[in-house]
Amino acid sequence: MTKHFINLDDIPSDDLQQIITQAILLKKQHKAGEINNRLKNKTLAMIFDKSSTRTRVSFEAGMTQLGGHALFLSDRDIQLGRGEPITDSAIVISSMVDAIMMRVSSHEAINTFAEYSSVPIINALSDESHPCQLLADMMTYQEHNGSIKGKTVAWIGDGNNMCHTYMQAAKAFGFTLNIATPKGYEPDQGFVNQYTDCINLCADTNSACKEVDLVVTDVWASMGQEAEQKKRELAFEDFQVNESLMNNAKPDAVFMHCLPAHRGEEVSADVIDGKQSLVWNEAENRLHAQKSLLLYLLS
Ligand code: CP
Ligand code: NVA
Repeated sequence: MTKHFINLDDIPSDDLQQIITQAILLKKQHKAGEINNRLKNKTLAMIFDKSSTRTRVSFEAGMTQLGGHALFLSDRDIQLGRGEPITDSAIVISSMVDAIMMRVSSHEAINTFAEYSSVPIINALSDESHPCQLLADMMTYQEHNGSIKGKTVAWIGDGNNMCHTYMQAAKAFGFTLNIATPKGYEPDQGFVNQYTDCINLCADTNSACKEVDLVVTDVWASMGQEAEQKKRELAFEDFQVNESLMNNAKPDAVFMHCLPAHRGEEVSADVIDGKQSLVWNEAENRLHAQKSLLLYLLS
């Protein structure tokens, strides 16, 4: 059976942990200058209908470092963007490449693509989830503070695709997720019902951050929500991660953000550029975590 990575729970917890352990090893080997050609002659197709810096660079560089090749396919260039059916595109593209990474607005489109694809499909961000980012986040936490099992994480801000994936990660990696969102911006009710045992919906940001080990946030307006920016700035004004909020967390708590970030909105400059912030390592780890994921899916 073809393995896909559309949501974090497509891969059993033990395997997710193995992917992270292998990613930490791959990072060491890469930094030591060791050559790894395990994906020689393999091609990854990368379909994008939204912008990206980290996802595109990390997958493309990752394939090169493993001896393979990555193809950047913007929806402005391929026939999918002109209305060729998803099903036809999936059959054709998957007949020529070894794996397909997709960043498209509709999560349903990724599911349909996967149904008709003969090779692994990787969700590189949809309106519902962003599982690749969570591999990097979990790797980063483990590198800095050890296992996240039994720890408490605060999600501050929008109940969006990243929030949903943190809910899935709470179950897979065994931590508790405190969630503080403005009214009307809560995570999807289906996710709340499914992950109710691992999450606390908190009344305010201070209680959500109390004694936590990790504080995470994301932009107030995600890609595609630009027209709501002003309205969201008002709704989210009490949801900034700043020094005073971080003071509620444990003294050795760390801060993460998937990036791109808006300093002065969801996070203050002194937090994102401060000592507790792991954002640069978190971004770099996209590379190592996804190399490990590609090896897992293609072996
Ligand atoms: N975090 C993340 O996915 O970044 P990009 O949008 O730059 O790929
Ligand atoms: N929630 C953000 C994440 C960007 C990596 C978005 O969907 O735009």
